[in-house]
Amino acid sequence: MATDIDRYELTWIYICVVALLVLFGVLLYSAYALGIHVETDVGQIHPAQVATTPPFDQPGLRMIGPDHYEAVIVARAWVFDPPEIRVPVGSTVTFKLTSIDVIHGFKIPRTGINRMIVPGQISEVTHRFDEPGTYTFFCHEYCGSGHHIMNGGIVVEPR
Ligand code: CUA
Repeated sequence: MATDIDRYELTWIYICVVALLVLFGVLLYSAYALGIHVETDVGQIHPAQVATTPPFDQPGLRMIGPDHYEAVIVARAWVFDPPEIRVPVGSTVTFKLTSIDVIHGFKIPRTGINRMIVPGQISEVTHRFDEPGTYTFFCHEYCGSGHHIMNGGIVVEPR
């Protein structure tokens, strides 16, 4: 009997080792073959120099093309700067985001936008707003005692 138990144990050890190898292989494949990684594709920025580095030295909204805006937003505990932006309906908005302190999040329900804001990294995401209304965005990475009040809004105005 004792040898049967040993054989089953050994089988499960093999299964666990194979599962670990498969998962490690998937990790390597996603990192190197598919190129999935933390937000480094847009750029890096020193968290202490955000206030003096363009475009984050002047957070806010600017037009970069016909019906295309760039929204530069700086996250810190526990506010987004600026907390509100206004665009006409039908606008495409490219958000550029960074943090000066800890990891924050940027989620806009109904749009599919869901990004981490990592200090030292620039996150970028683009969305076209075809429906007028107020789109609340909020931090969805726990960032301290004021996390639950860290939010803002995009007001999409009728033309
Ligand atoms: Cu910022 Cu949670």
